[in-house]
Amino acid sequence: MLDIAGDFDLPPERVWLNAAHQGPLPGIAAQAVAEMVRWKQQPHNLKTSKPFTEIPGRLRSVLADLIAVPDSELVLANSSSYGLHLVANGLDLGEGDEVIVAANDFPSDILPWIRLQASGLKVVQVEPAGEVLSVDEVRQAITVRTKVVCLTWVHSFSGQVTDLAGIGEVSRSVDALFVVNGSQGVGALPISPADLPIDVLTGVGFKWLCGPYGTGFCWLGPRASDRVSPAKLYWLNALTADDLVNPGLDLSTITPSATGRHDIFGTANFFNFAALIESVGLVASTGVARIHEHNLELASHLVDGVDRSLYDVGDRGDPDRLSSIVLLRPLAGSVEDVSLHLETEGVDVAARMGKIRLAPHFYNGDADIVSALAALNGYLQ
Ligand SMILES: Cc1ncc(COP(=O)(O)O)c(C=O)c1O
Repeated sequence: MLDIAGDFDLPPERVWLNAAHQGPLPGIAAQAVAEMVRWKQQPHNLKTSKPFTEIPGRLRSVLADLIAVPDSELVLANSSSYGLHLVANGLDLGEGDEVIVAANDFPSDILPWIRLQASGLKVVQVEPAGEVLSVDEVRQAITVRTKVVCLTWVHSFSGQVTDLAGIGEVSRSVDALFVVNGSQGVGALPISPADLPIDVLTGVGFKWLCGPYGTGFCWLGPRASDRVSPAKLYWLNALTADDLVNPGLDLSTITPSATGRHDIFGTANFFNFAALIESVGLVASTGVARIHEHNLELASHLVDGVDRSLYDVGDRGDPDRLSSIVLLRPLAGSVEDVSLHLETEGVDVAARMGKIRLAPHFYNGDADIVSALAALNGYLQ
C-alpha cells in the first residue's frame, strides 16, 4: 500500500473517491501555482521569453516520459476533446468515409465525428453487448471505408478496460487510425502507446494526473502525424518575443517547428501548466505500476465488502478488463438518494448512468474504503 496522502491537502473528515471526475491538486503543484501567481503579480518575471518556452517544454517532456514517447510527438492541450477534434478536423474526412465509435462512450469521443456528418462522414455507433466494444464487435463493424476507430481506453461509465492491442490490430487490417481516449487511464494504469497498434492517445490532466482543470495532452503517433494536417501557424511555435526586438521580420518565410505545431494556443498558461508539471512529476515518481496495484487493491476491497443485497457490482469476471473505477447499481433506492446519503456521510462519489461511481486513487488508503463501505452498507439503516 502506498502512503502519500500527506502530499495532498484533502480534508480529513471527508473521503474523496472521485478521481474519475477530478483528481485533487497535490501540495507541490499548489506551490507552483502560488509562484506563478507571484510572477503575474510582478510581471518583470515575464519580461524574457524564457518562461514562455521553458514551461511548455518541461511539461511536454514530463508527459512524454510518462507514456514513453518522444517529446516531439506530444501535443499540449486543454482537454481530451482538443486532441480528438484536432484529429477529426485534420483528416479531411467526408463522403464515403466511416468512423467507428461505441454508442455508449463518453460524449467527447463521439461528438467530433458527429459534427462531420454534415460533410458526408458516416458515424457508425456500435452498441456493445457488454460495457466496452470487443475485438469481434469492431471486426464485424469495420469496412474498407473505415478511416478511424475511436474509443475510450477505460470506460467512464463502467470502469472496463478496452482491449487496445486486439482492436488496434483490427483497425490496422484496413489501414484505419485507432484513436484512443486515455482520460480515465493515464496516471492510473501503465501505458506505452508506441508499443501498441494505436495511433493517437488523448487525455486530460485533471483526473488521474491530479493537475488543474483545463489541461490535457495528445500523443500523435507517426501514422497519425503523417495524416493530420496542422490547422494553424501559431507565432509562439515559430518565434519568440526576442524575434520582435528589431524591425525587419519577414513573416512570409516563417515555418512552424515540428514539435508543438499542433499545440493549443497559449501554452505558457503558467497557472495551469506549471502546476501540471508538478502533478505529473508526483505520479511519475510514485510509479504508475505501483499506483495501479494500489488502486486495484482498494477497488477489490470495495467490491468484496459491499452488501450485495443493496448493490449490483456488475460483470467483474475478466481481470484484464478491470480498472480501479467501480460502478455500483443500487438495488434499493435511487442513485440520487444513495449519492445524497453518501455525501451526507462525508463520502464523495459520482452518479453516472444510474450507478454510483467510486474511483479510488493513490492518495486514498484502506481506511477510506472502510468509511465508504460503512456509508454504502448503512444506506436504509
Ligand atoms: C473518457 C473521458 N473523456 C473526456 C472527459 C472530459 O472531457 P474533455 O476533456 O473532453 O472536456 C471525461 C470526463 O470528464 C471522460 O471520462
